[in-house]
Amino acid sequence: MQELQLLCWAVLLGLGLGQACPGPCDCGEKYGFQIIDCSYRDLEAVPPGFPANVTTLSLSANRLPHLPEGAFREVPQLQSLWLAHNEIRKVAAGALASLGRLKNLDLSHNLISDFAWDDLHNLSALHFLKMDSNELTFIPRDAFRSLQALRSLQLNHNRLHMLAEGTFAPLTLLSHLQINDNPFDCTCSIMWFKTWALTTTTVSIPEQDKITCTSPHVLKGTPLTRLLPLPCSAPLVQLTYQPSQDGAELQPGFVLALHCDVEGQPAPQLHWHIQTPGGTAEIASPNVGADGRALPGSPAASSRPRFQAFANGSLLVPDFGKLQEGTYSCLATNELGSAESSVNVALATPGQGGEDALGRRFHGNVAEGTGCYTVDNEVQPLGPEDDVLIIYLSRTRGPEVAAVGHRASGQQPLRLLLLGQSLLLLFLTSF
Ligand SMILES: *[C@@H]1O[C@H](CO)[C@@H](O)[C@H](O)[C@H]1NC(C)=O
Ligand SMILES: *[C@@H]1O[C@H](CO)[C@@H](O)[C@H](O)[C@H]1NC(C)=O
Ligand SMILES: *[C@@H]1O[C@H](CO)[C@@H](O)[C@H](O)[C@H]1NC(C)=O
Repeated sequence: MQELQLLCWAVLLGLGLGQACPGPCDCGEKYGFQIIDCSYRDLEAVPPGFPANVTTLSLSANRLPHLPEGAFREVPQLQSLWLAHNEIRKVAAGALASLGRLKNLDLSHNLISDFAWDDLHNLSALHFLKMDSNELTFIPRDAFRSLQALRSLQLNHNRLHMLAEGTFAPLTLLSHLQINDNPFDCTCSIMWFKTWALTTTTVSIPEQDKITCTSPHVLKGTPLTRLLPLPCSAPLVQLTYQPSQDGAELQPGFVLALHCDVEGQPAPQLHWHIQTPGGTAEIASPNVGADGRALPGSPAASSRPRFQAFANGSLLVPDFGKLQEGTYSCLATNELGSAESSVNVALATPGQGGEDALGRRFHGNVAEGTGCYTVDNEVQPLGPEDDVLIIYLSRTRGPEVAAVGHRASGQQPLRLLLLGQSLLLLFLTSF
């Protein structure tokens, strides 16, 4: 009880005097600003006990190793925070978010590699942000989206490899950007910066000769602003399939071959997504060598996978049957974007029509040679891209009609429907 009373007294005294100044620091007032100076004190943590109306706080040149969540919760009025020349490696989520009035923040000359970028979203009053001479390796694309009052941004002497296009776009009042001495990868994804720095923006960007490439090797040391245009393009994909119309003889157990034609610079990575009644398969291409066997080093090395994705963009499905029905998608990705193309594949019996994954019904009138299957009138086209191209594939001209004629006798020919952006209709005989 006595202890509680003592505590109450202490709190009352504290409030009454109002001027608790943390032990190691100097506190003072100047031009209506409440200033606390804790610089050069060998501090290893932010000291507690600041008065709530502090506007300027210097903790520069100490030995702070990190900034924990809520580090500045006591001082919501803070307008300037100086933290340069510490040993800060990590700024935890919630360390800075409470500083909605902060105008000046200096975190330079630390070791920061782990930074709570989301906290910047709360610092919408910020004018001046100095983060140079740290170990930052990346900046999220939307890191600066709330910093609409920012005038000056210093990110030089970090370990930034790339800059997402549009990173600086929200900074409408920015007049000074320093970003030299970072080890940039000069690939297609950074080309925007040259255009932006040289032609789009009015921001002053000093030391442009020191904004250089570190990789690829041939460009090492080249200033970004002097890069020659690189041939860069986002991926384009088109799925084609075999067997195609040209006189293929289809027997049960044939090999379905899809080919993903890809354009794009740099060369896109290919990925197949296959959805069958039995489940989903995700295949990073290639998963087999030219001989169709799984690549050395993979878990099933030298076996023959059910879906063989070759380095040339082909996907082979040997022994195609009912179990392999489904949606086959090919996804191509490079640093400029991605593109996808899909087909639905289904087996059906001719004459009776078939149904695709969307429940659309296709009626077949088997004619000689190449013909068309018409889509039911009730079927609503899904959109302009859903053009259905129907190719009828015959084994040979004569026997094929005969095969259909023999249906009643129990010899059921099969049709293979490929539905998607386009529909390939294959005729399969089962002699
Ligand atoms: C800060 O608060 C203390 C009392 O808590 C007061 O003496 C001082 O004048 C205030 N300073 C400012 C700048 O408002
Ligand atoms: C930061 O901003 C978000 C969204 O505006 C808000 O919900 C949150 O309370 C703020 N955080 C702090 C610590 O003020
Ligand atoms: C891709 O390679 C495989 C295996 O070598 C081959 O079967 C296939 O025909 C090739 N595809 C194209 C489009 O050349």
